[in-house]
Amino acid sequence: MRIDILSLFPEMIAPALRVGVLGRAIEEGLLSVALTNPREFARDKRRTVDDAPYGGGAGMVMKCEPLFAAVESLIAHNSLEHVVLLTPRGRRLDQALVREAASWRDMVVLCARYEGVDERVSHQLVTDEISIGDYVLSGGEAAALVLIEAVSRMAPGVVGNWESVETDSFFHGPLGFPQYTRPPVFRGEVVPQVLLDGNHGAIQRWRRKEALRLTRARRPDLLKQLSEEDLELLAEIGRERPTSEKENEP
Ligand code: 6GU
Repeated sequence: MRIDILSLFPEMIAPALRVGVLGRAIEEGLLSVALTNPREFARDKRRTVDDAPYGGGAGMVMKCEPLFAAVESLIAHNSLEHVVLLTPRGRRLDQALVREAASWRDMVVLCARYEGVDERVSHQLVTDEISIGDYVLSGGEAAALVLIEAVSRMAPGVVGNWESVETDSFFHGPLGFPQYTRPPVFRGEVVPQVLLDGNHGAIQRWRRKEALRLTRARRPDLLKQLSEEDLELLAEIGRERPTSEKENEP
């Protein structure tokens, strides 16, 4: 998959592309990500990319010309089938949208700054508007990293162990189960015995049950498409003595 990011602050994004799973995926050519600054496509001496809004009001608006020129310059290596604008008014990003985007051959990602972009960019250039949640960011750069990291995990070969993608929270609904590693006792808190006993059937059952317990406590909206075994585990949880408040705290 090829991803082109258009940002007035590429230095905010570049270092993150060299780190971790995403960094390795790019290094190995499983994913190609390029950064372009629309300012390079501003034609005037001052390289103007924004201007005051028609009708007045606070802030500045990203101008059409540099964004159109930048996007159109990408045609050589990009079908422009998907031009994403990151904006709080867009479709809310969730794992279903991540999976959809991961199936695209390429994607141009526009990071909005200031009070937004000229509406004609949306009308004529953008195919998909995406928001990463109901809160306000100063620009789309942090959102672009969220989108790319989530999408890259779904691309074939990026996460070596497909099981870890499959068991990720939200892939199948329930939240992830609690994890422990050594030491077996830390500051008086012990690792659940079942994880130390090596009975894989019992471990699987415990993990599913604890995942359901967390989901029931924090995100009951995600409890759907439950199997017979899930319903039995939830019933078991329901019959337990009330848990202390601490265990259910986010
Ligand atoms: Cl994509 N952009 C901005 N500026 N703010 C946001 C957002 C995007 N998603 C949530 N808040």
